[in-house]
Amino acid sequence: MKDLLKDINRLRKERKAVILAHTYQPAEIQELADYVGDSYGLSVKASQLENADVIVFCGVSFMAETAAILNPQKTVLMPEPSAGCPMADTITADQLRAFKAKHPGAPVVCYVNSTAEVKAESDICCTSSNALKVVKSLGDVPEILFVPDQYLGHFVEQQLGRKLVCWNGGCPVHHQLTADIIRDMKAKYPGYKVMVHPETTPEAQAEADHILATGPMIELVRNSNDQKYLVGTEEGILHALKGAAPQKTFVHISPLLVCEDMKKTTLEKVKRSLETMETVIKVPQDIADKARKSIEAMLKL
Ligand code: 13P
Ligand code: SF4
Repeated sequence: MKDLLKDINRLRKERKAVILAHTYQPAEIQELADYVGDSYGLSVKASQLENADVIVFCGVSFMAETAAILNPQKTVLMPEPSAGCPMADTITADQLRAFKAKHPGAPVVCYVNSTAEVKAESDICCTSSNALKVVKSLGDVPEILFVPDQYLGHFVEQQLGRKLVCWNGGCPVHHQLTADIIRDMKAKYPGYKVMVHPETTPEAQAEADHILATGPMIELVRNSNDQKYLVGTEEGILHALKGAAPQKTFVHISPLLVCEDMKKTTLEKVKRSLETMETVIKVPQDIADKARKSIEAMLKL
């Protein structure tokens, strides 16, 4: 492990590479990264990397695609290119075009957990930490299409008191968190605050004290007076939470909340990727140009 880290550190200097990692990545990858964040933080970071030639993206493919779209001059590498997001695959660009045709004139908000082709068909992107702001920015239009996550859409509807026309996609990992699991854990851990991700079902959200994206979860535990938390999202976040508030207690709410795709990145694969400069993530230019507009519309807010 020590030699592996030494090699990665040498290679990243030689390649002028920056390593970005999502908070669901394995602990050793988070430790290695130059920047660890949620989808929003990583998109912002990817748009500000003037001094790097190479971005090594430790996450899933839609995140690396977003970095590639925002950095057409840089080489974006994924150590494990098969790491996808099943939620992103719940809507294709053809399906979105058909959805739009049924609702002419309605603006489309796409969750960043979507393919570049879907972003290219959308007006504005959002992440789970800024979805409310993004939808609000569209003003009082009669209809807004929201793709692909129906439950993030539901969360926005609840918070803003307005209806959206939601696609019926979602995250198979977060869907496993049932209200019964949460109730059982609350009974076992009285006094713990429950945090869940807005990708969980409405029934799970109804049992929670806080419904938050991963970045805001970290902010909350840093700033709140509460000491104990039941954590209702992917297990990688536990490492980031403990780092942010080492004196506090965190219990993962269910061992079912593990995203296999997020766990495909290993230190060996990061090293190989820097050595071989593979796998390069490329988005066709016409798609990238259109998708960039929807991402930049979000970043401008
Ligand atoms: P965040 O927007 O909180 O980073 O979540 C991304 C994700 O994939 C959640 O499953
Ligand atoms: Fe996609 Fe769900 Fe994994 Fe997030 S946790 S990357 S939404 S499958």
